[in-house]
Amino acid sequence: MTVTLIVNGTDHRIDADASTPLLYVLRNDLGLNGAKYGCGLGQCGACTVQVDGKPIFSCLTPIAALEGRRVKTVEGLGTLASPSVLQQAFEIEQAVQCGYCTAGMIMRAQALLDRARPLTDAAIREHMQTNLCRCGTYLRILRAIRRAAGMMHGKAAHPESE
Ligand code: FES
Ligand code: FES
Repeated sequence: MTVTLIVNGTDHRIDADASTPLLYVLRNDLGLNGAKYGCGLGQCGACTVQVDGKPIFSCLTPIAALEGRRVKTVEGLGTLASPSVLQQAFEIEQAVQCGYCTAGMIMRAQALLDRARPLTDAAIREHMQTNLCRCGTYLRILRAIRRAAGMMHGKAAHPESE
């Protein structure tokens, strides 16, 4: 089938089987390699991107479900020269080790930052539960999201616990 995907604001006509996971199209057809293949089962979050502003597992999302919907990947968030607020916060807090989980973490966290305020640590932890980091950088990721919330919304989220 042919599907029109709107990815980071640009239309792409994709010819592929209807069941092809979005992750494969992003990486193999569009050269967007930020989202990663971890488990392919919806259990790690490495493949997380946004569809219409909501975080989804792109490894489990068939392209047939995405006609006319807005897909956003980490490449659409910021650039090396002009990183987004959340990307800056990840850098400041050094919230990356191997980096395999990072794009997924950022896309999931950005969805929360875009809709929730004030942000509590409990809300951040619950929202981020689906995304795993095999390097164990969770506390730094939490600090980065909290920092970004402060940068975006004018005051830091209250650190309830760490
Ligand atoms: S690769 Fe999609 S959730 Fe693990
Ligand atoms: S930084 Fe290595 S998996 Fe998260």
